[in-house]
Amino acid sequence: MQSAEVGACWEANAENWTKFSRAGYDVYRDALNTPAFLDMLPSIAGLRGLDLGCGEGTNTRRLAECKARMTAIDIAPSFIRLAQEQEAEDPRGIRYMLGDGRDLPFADGEFDFVTAFMSLMDMPDQRRVLQQVFRVLRGGGFFQFSILHPCFVPPRRKTIRDEKGDCRAVELADYFDETDGRIETWLFSTIPSEEREGVAPFRVPRFHRTLSTWMTMIVASGFSLEEFREPMASEEAARLYPAVADTRVVPIFLHIRLRKPLSR
Ligand SMILES: C[S@@+](CC[C@H](N)C(=O)[O-])C[C@H]1O[C@@H](n2cnc3c(N)ncnc32)[C@H](O)[C@@H]1O
Repeated sequence: MQSAEVGACWEANAENWTKFSRAGYDVYRDALNTPAFLDMLPSIAGLRGLDLGCGEGTNTRRLAECKARMTAIDIAPSFIRLAQEQEAEDPRGIRYMLGDGRDLPFADGEFDFVTAFMSLMDMPDQRRVLQQVFRVLRGGGFFQFSILHPCFVPPRRKTIRDEKGDCRAVELADYFDETDGRIETWLFSTIPSEEREGVAPFRVPRFHRTLSTWMTMIVASGFSLEEFREPMASEEAARLYPAVADTRVVPIFLHIRLRKPLSR
């Protein structure tokens, strides 16, 4: 699948995704994934940052609140429009632009750091995206990204629950089947049934890679690996937000930080 088709899927998702995520239904993001990502992030105050695959911009705003000078890019025009509207209403100094991670419209070395929250596994040709990120970073700059954990969220995953509905185990299959835009259809699990009525599920093209493919791409890109984490919900988070309790059984997300050597 090519970027144009990926962009069309996300364009169709954008309005509802924004509505539901801003209403607090992206619980994995808000209760676990973004806090863990920010906890792992080095100080970014005063740095020039790029957020790749920014969606409706909530996470970009978090980075701007850490005093970074943010630019953000996404392939879906409606995400960029909705993010710009929020920026106009409540400015954080963020520059939002339409664009494709395969062909970043920026000069070499333009950024001190790049982030990608849950977007790289949704992009075709990740090898090229990594090269582009490497190019737009200055020497010594870093790239931090989160993805669906390739080992624990392969193309087939089934949560095994006990009689109380608690996750006890996870059944996994098709790990070695790398996918090229295989469409997954779903909605945030915490959306109440009355709000789901008549809402078409999101259609998300996935580009699953095995862990060894990810590591091979990273090594080939010239980055060095700096940090590698598998966030797990705390007991308190799991109690407050039961939807994320399954990350206490096996991880769902993988967080990686890469560093561009100073000399390049
Ligand atoms: C799962 S969403 C994550 C959005 C946001 N980062 C967040 O955490 O809320 C994945 C995003 O990647 C974007 N995306 C997919 N392919 C892209 C590409 N080739 N270039 C730029 N953005 C892309 C999608 O439009 C979508 O906004």
